[in-house]
Amino acid sequence: MLSTIALFASARRSGNTGQLVDRIADELQIEVVDLAQKSISPFDYEHKNRSDDFEPLMDYVLGFDQIIFSSPVYWYAVAPPMKIFIDRISDLLELPDLLNQGRRLRGKTAYIVCTSIYHETPVPFLDAFRETFGYLGMEYGGCMHANCVDGYAAAEYEEDIKNFINRVRG
Ligand SMILES: Cc1cc2nc3c(=O)[nH]c(=O)nc-3n(C[C@H](O)[C@H](O)[C@H](O)COP(=O)(O)O)c2cc1C
Repeated sequence: MLSTIALFASARRSGNTGQLVDRIADELQIEVVDLAQKSISPFDYEHKNRSDDFEPLMDYVLGFDQIIFSSPVYWYAVAPPMKIFIDRISDLLELPDLLNQGRRLRGKTAYIVCTSIYHETPVPFLDAFRETFGYLGMEYGGCMHANCVDGYAAAEYEEDIKNFINRVRG
C-alpha cells in the first residue's frame, strides 16, 4: 500500500479544515503535520534560513509516496503556513545540494483537503495547487472540499469522504 502524509495549515487547529483532515487521517491511519507548529521562515533569496525546520521536514515528507495538502480557503488562497511551505519548495530547485531532493517530488501523488464557504472549491485556490503540482512533476490525485458556510457539517460529507479515502487508498 502507498504511504501517505497530510500537511495541514489553518489559523485554528480544530476548526473546519482541522476536523475534516482529522476525519480522513483517522480512517487512513496517517499522520497530520500542523505546519503552524513548525518553525519555517518565509522564502529568502539569500537562503539564510537553512537551519530552520523546513529541510528536515521536507526530507521526512519525501519518504512518503503521497502527500495531502490541507488548508482552508483564505482569500482564494491557502493559509499562510501552507504558502510559506510551498514557497520554500523553491529552495529545492535553487540550491545545488538540494536538487536531488526536489527531483524526489516527481511522480508522487498530491491531494487537496480544503474547506471554504462556497459550494465548490474556489477555482483560483484549486488552480494554484494544480499548477504547482504540475510544475513539480507531481500527479494530482483529487480534492476533498467541504462547504462550511454553516460550520463543518460532518454527517453531510461522509459519502464524499469515503470516496476520497478510496482514491487515496488506490
Ligand atoms: C481570512 C479568511 C479569508 C477567507 N476567505 C475565503 C474565500 O476567499 N472564499 C471562501 O469561500 N471562504 C473564505 N473564508 C471562509 C473559510 O474558508 C471557511 O470558513 C473555512 O471553513 C475556515 O476553515 P478553518 O476553520 O480551518 O479556518 C475565509 C475565512 C477567513 C478567516
